[in-house]
Amino acid sequence: MDKGFRLARGFFITFEGGEGAGKSTQIERLARKMRAKKYDIVVTREPGGSPGAEAVRHVLLSGAAEPFGAKMEAFLFAAARSDHVEQVIRPAVERGAIVLCDRFMDSSRVYQGVTGGIDVDFMDALEQVAINGMVPDMTLIFDIDPAEGLRRATVRRGGEAGADRFEKETLAIHRKRREAFLAIAAAEPDRCIVIDASGDPDMVENVVTATVFAALEARTPTQNRQTAPA
Ligand code: TYD
Repeated sequence: MDKGFRLARGFFITFEGGEGAGKSTQIERLARKMRAKKYDIVVTREPGGSPGAEAVRHVLLSGAAEPFGAKMEAFLFAAARSDHVEQVIRPAVERGAIVLCDRFMDSSRVYQGVTGGIDVDFMDALEQVAINGMVPDMTLIFDIDPAEGLRRATVRRGGEAGADRFEKETLAIHRKRREAFLAIAAAEPDRCIVIDASGDPDMVENVVTATVFAALEARTPTQNRQTAPA
C-alpha cells in the first residue's frame, strides 16, 4: 500500500461536537482528500481506536458502566484514552503522520465533566494522566442544533432503536453539551475552531478542507518538511 510521505513533525487533529453533527462523514472525506495528496493519514476514534480501548468501548456505550456512576465512566474513558494515545496516536504523530481523531479529551470534559457533574479539577487531573502531553494541534468543534443532530443520528441508525447510552439522554442535556463545547472553543481559540455543521455535507466539507489545509500551511517549513515513507 502507498503510505504517503511523512512530515518532519506529525499533526494531531481532533473532531468534536454533539450527536449527529456529521463528524465521521467529514473525517472520511478529509482523509480521502489528504491521501490523494499523498499525506500519511491515520483515522481513529474514541472511545476506542486501539485494541485495549475498543474492549472498553462496548462497556461504555452499552450503558453497562452507567449504574456505577459518572466517575466510573470518566475513569474508563480515561483508561481507554491513555491506551489509545500510547498505542496509536503518539507513534503515528512521531513518525510524521497526520492523525484525524473522532472525539477526544473535549468529549470527556463535556459529557463526563459538565453534564456528568464531575468536578473540573478532578477532570483536569484525569485528562492530564490520560493524554500525557498529547494535546491536539487543532480541534474542530462541529456545531449543530441538538434537535437537528439527534434527528440526523436517528435517521442514520434507521429508527429510534439502537441509540447508545449517551444519545438517549434528554434534549436539555444535549443543549448543555452544545454550550459546553462552544465554551471550550471560546476559552482555547488557538486550538479550537467552530465549524457550522448545519449546512449540507458538501458545504461543510469545503469549510473543513480549507481550515485544515490553511492550518498545515501556517506551520513552519521545518515542521512541514517531507520525506519518503520508511
Ligand atoms: P459514537 O457512536 O462513537 O460516536 P458519535 O456520537 O461521535 O457518532 O459514540 C460515542 C459516545 O460516547 C458519544 O455519545 C459521546 C460519548 N463520549 C463520552 O461521553 N466521553 C468521551 O470521552 C468520549 C470520547 C465519548
